[in-house]
Amino acid sequence: MELDAKDGKFAARLIAWQRRHGRHGLPWQGTKDAYRIWLSEIMLQQTQVGTVIPYYLAFLERFPDVASLAASDVDSVLRLWSGLGYYSRARNLHRAACEVVVRHGGTFPHDRETLESLPGVGRSTAAAIAAFAHGAREAILDGNVKRVLARHFAVAGYPGEAKVALRLWTIAEAVLPSQGIATYTQALMDLGATVCSRTPACERCPVHDTCQARAQGNVAAYPGTRQRKAVPVRATRMLLLFHQGRLLLEKRPPSGVWGGLWSFPEVSMDEDVASVCEARFGLVVDAITPLSALKHSFTHFTLNIHPVQCRVRADRRVADSAATQWMDPDHAAMEAVPVPVKKLLVRLKAESGEAADRQ
Ligand code: ADE
Repeated sequence: MELDAKDGKFAARLIAWQRRHGRHGLPWQGTKDAYRIWLSEIMLQQTQVGTVIPYYLAFLERFPDVASLAASDVDSVLRLWSGLGYYSRARNLHRAACEVVVRHGGTFPHDRETLESLPGVGRSTAAAIAAFAHGAREAILDGNVKRVLARHFAVAGYPGEAKVALRLWTIAEAVLPSQGIATYTQALMDLGATVCSRTPACERCPVHDTCQARAQGNVAAYPGTRQRKAVPVRATRMLLLFHQGRLLLEKRPPSGVWGGLWSFPEVSMDEDVASVCEARFGLVVDAITPLSALKHSFTHFTLNIHPVQCRVRADRRVADSAATQWMDPDHAAMEAVPVPVKKLLVRLKAESGEAADRQ
């Protein structure tokens, strides 16, 4: 892809636009503290600004610096992360904090390449941290930026494909300004989020007159989309085992789906609930009542969850294990639980409130 002279103005126009129309005063702006910037970039990887802000502030209150985060246990980190989703981010965050303390003497690396060696930090995140914290002249390419560049430079194809991504990276590097990298980086993010969004507002775009997709009258064609394969659908039953007002939660294995989170025990659709409860947990159950199903989408499959409420008549377990715990429903909702488990807990609370209102 050849860039021509007018593309030299791309960065200058974005910088001027950011100063007037970009986002200012977000809690992670106005600092050069790499810890704070890193934390915000990880939270913003798959979550929108409005959702991130309260989590970000609560996180900093609890873990004001990388040393306090590294000294904590991963369960406390997961608990604070609960509700943000994509929990591998939280586990990697804790691992990365430990690495910064142990391998880098408690100071975040300055250069993009070394930042990229930290768990959970990809090339674009590393570039954003290096640019915001140290003014490093590095190119970012997150989802929003891919959209901006694919449109402006009419890069056809799906950015998830290696050769399309490579082209976008080449352009991202070619149009970097020689000065004002932090403002430029923020401008790209802001333009992608607020103007060059899925439904673009081209009339507000500072580079609309050089946008090649617009010149083609075909902005909607960029970026190209993936040929969608139908995602498989799986089904599971989640057991809401009630005993003396408390619910049984099971800690999931550290890796895999919802790794390390507290969840309701699951049984397959064809297993007999009472027998499984007896065999696996030493619990005698009755009043087995199916509740309405809910759906949870993962990247690679959809999970249909069929909750089943059961009354526990007897708990014959020899002892509590580290992997299962009876929890008060309000306490459970505060633990690190997967989103659908949280939804079920909220649903139970609403229903018990309604029942109390009716009495
Ligand atoms: N998305 C990713 N990084 C961001 C940032 N620093 N500000 C706003 N949105 C973002």
